[in-house]
Amino acid sequence: MTKKKIETALISAGRAKKFTQGSVNSVIQRASSLVFDTVADKKRATAGRASGELFYGRRGTLTHFSLQEAMTELEGGAGCALYPCGAAAVANAILAFVAAGDNILMSGSVYEPTQDFCTKILSKMNVSTTWFDHSSGAEIADLVQPNTKVVFLESPASITMEVQDVPAIVAAVRSKAPDAVIMLDNTWAAGILFRALDFGVDISIQAGTKYLIGHSDAMIGTAVANERCWAQLRENSYLMGQMVDADTAYMASRGLRTLAVRLRQHEESSIRIANWLAERAEVAVVNHPALPQCKGHQFWKRDFSGSSGLFSFVLKEKLSAQQLANYLDHFAHFSMAYSWGGFESLILANQPEELAEIRPVAGVDFSGTLVRVHIGLENVDDLIDDLAAGFARLTQ
Ligand SMILES: Cc1ncc(COP(=O)(O)O)c(C=O)c1O
Repeated sequence: MTKKKIETALISAGRAKKFTQGSVNSVIQRASSLVFDTVADKKRATAGRASGELFYGRRGTLTHFSLQEAMTELEGGAGCALYPCGAAAVANAILAFVAAGDNILMSGSVYEPTQDFCTKILSKMNVSTTWFDHSSGAEIADLVQPNTKVVFLESPASITMEVQDVPAIVAAVRSKAPDAVIMLDNTWAAGILFRALDFGVDISIQAGTKYLIGHSDAMIGTAVANERCWAQLRENSYLMGQMVDADTAYMASRGLRTLAVRLRQHEESSIRIANWLAERAEVAVVNHPALPQCKGHQFWKRDFSGSSGLFSFVLKEKLSAQQLANYLDHFAHFSMAYSWGGFESLILANQPEELAEIRPVAGVDFSGTLVRVHIGLENVDDLIDDLAAGFARLTQ
């Protein structure tokens, strides 16, 4: 049989009869205690507790196993650990592979709390962080130290959206530290538009809070690991007490069923709006991975199968506080909120000095206000009208 296409895999993954028990969706099995009828049953459950036997709630129930099996299949790994949110997935994936005295190599443009985890938590454990801002890969080999145990990437970058040359980075790291664990925050690509494990990454992490849940109403983190890293990630996360409730795991599984169509619309609308913005006199640059003007666009084109709905653009001028408030306070369809990946459009802005603060290595090479948008599933003409009205407010 030919390999299933992604749209089909998203429908069927994790829906084996043992998980659905006669319904279409997986059952929601809420449990702390899981009851054994006999001593022999208890023995079997204990022996198989890490491989899908019902054992104790913290190891998961049928609802969790269904989602884990789906994510493992979709991202091509050996297993998937679940967490209460994306930040927990990031922190626990790193913690599973470092000890006092180790070093981690961290992209300088990762999500701000990921940076803070290094500076505020890992530092206390005597784990040092080396930041890098290269997207080409080759220079990274020089930064790898004998004690470098983890290399952490996020592509596209948070807020500024640079796409990294992941295969080159992986090759450079492996040439110096074959055993280092390479992790990637794969949230923007929802784990499917960029098949991180196929490119040599060991662990693909997602804030499932975004596109997997897709409706801005729950939080979950996922980490899909390859064969080499799965057992260590699984056991360390278990010992750190990491799990998510069954209802949320169910919501993530349900989100998978519509992920492909949602992403297709996010992509179509976001590219149309990005192109519209690129023509506007107020805009200096549009950081959408699908546009040639975005840093690393060539890597997106080579390695990704599509785009999602999050991108940013930089204005030619830095807005005053008053201008910024006037701009952001009056959108009809864009709400101001952290997070992204839901059905609704969102907008946030960063002033250059705010960005400089969260770029430990890379200088911020623009002077205008950066606006980050998540393009939702509204009619795209309505969104363009809304953005045009926002630009009109800049001159009022
Ligand atoms: C790229 C990225 N990674 C991780 C996270 C953290 O996810 P969560 O909010 O579910 O903890 C976020 C949240 O905004 C994010 O944007």
